[in-house]
Amino acid sequence: MAERVAVIPGDGVGPEVIKAGVRCLEAVSSLEFEWFDWGCERYEKTGTMMPPDGLETLARHRAIYLGAIGWPTVPDHISLWGLLLPIRKRFELYVNVRPVKLLQGVRGPLEGRGPSDIDMLFIRENTEGEYSGAGGHVHVGTDLELAVETSVFTKTAVERAVRYAFERAEERRGSVISVTKSNASRYTYVLWDQVAARVAMDHPKVRLERVLVDAMAARMVANPGSVDVAVGSNLFADILTDLAAAIQGGMGTAASANLDPSGKRPSMFEPVHGSAPDIAGRGVANPMGAILSGALMLRHLKLQDAAAKLESAVEAVTASGVKTRDLGGSATTTEFADEVIVRLKASTVPHR
Ligand code: NAI
Ligand code: MG
Repeated sequence: MAERVAVIPGDGVGPEVIKAGVRCLEAVSSLEFEWFDWGCERYEKTGTMMPPDGLETLARHRAIYLGAIGWPTVPDHISLWGLLLPIRKRFELYVNVRPVKLLQGVRGPLEGRGPSDIDMLFIRENTEGEYSGAGGHVHVGTDLELAVETSVFTKTAVERAVRYAFERAEERRGSVISVTKSNASRYTYVLWDQVAARVAMDHPKVRLERVLVDAMAARMVANPGSVDVAVGSNLFADILTDLAAAIQGGMGTAASANLDPSGKRPSMFEPVHGSAPDIAGRGVANPMGAILSGALMLRHLKLQDAAAKLESAVEAVTASGVKTRDLGGSATTTEFADEVIVRLKASTVPHR
């Protein structure tokens, strides 16, 4: 039976890269797609980012494939809290997985570093932490105006994210870096460290290293090859993975998965980048992040061969020198996808 995927192209370059991604997915799988025009345009017409029963509708799908949400005419906290964050929270997509690889043919900004130096996997706690939504804004408009936003860390949520990181490290190079700031913060990241140490005892073959977030930022630039799996809070991993995206060539190249690893609820797959209003509508956005997010979706749906084929095809395209403008090439979004599809259709795509 074909798997049903909900597609939310969203705003700005979202629809451009998602169209490219769906074409590639159709070339390599028999997934079925149902499209939803939710996003900022809908908000401006109706006052809501998605219909009231939007989450129930999504719950009937095996996975969600999303472009980007956000547009300059709608405040970002409204668009984010009206669509993206409710999906992550309601379906308890408790880890955000972001592979960071420099592909053949892509020039990263770090001098002297090639594809063999840059292969990291970031695991971001995706439900709470600094983005828990706990807080308030009072005495608005007076001299006493005050805003508080409280970080919330539960043992359960930290543990499941860290455990997921250890399991991935077992399949990779056997090392986990737990990223916190437990010197300046006295409570939340201290709890995080304690939980990480406990989880480490269940995984004796994996080496756990604790690194403070500021030192981690420097290390990713100075010695990216020393990073295998890194796990961090919602805020820290959000920031570090944008740095990671730059290291692997740029925002357009980075893929992500918001997972319910149990598979009970639909997981969501989306490029790391936003709606890129500065280049939207011109057909020049890099679809790599979207296409590679599609490969993560295939893997989650246990279509491993198709996932490997799609990843190899993307790398074969970059290795051949075909690139979008952001990577110094001249291919359009559609032309890049065309090249990927040509390679998917050729039987010579090497599996890896
Ligand atoms: P952005 O990721 O949209 O853009 C940052 C820079 O990267 C821009 O220069 C843009 O041109 C470039 N870029 C992004 N995607 C690209 C692609 N596929 N190909 C080539 N270049 C690309 O981040 P920004 O500008 O901070 O946010 C724009 C809007 O997107 C905001 O409304 C923001 O809230 C939203 N946003 C949404 C996200 C999501 O849906 N998950 C994630 C990040 C931002
Ligand atoms: Mg981000």
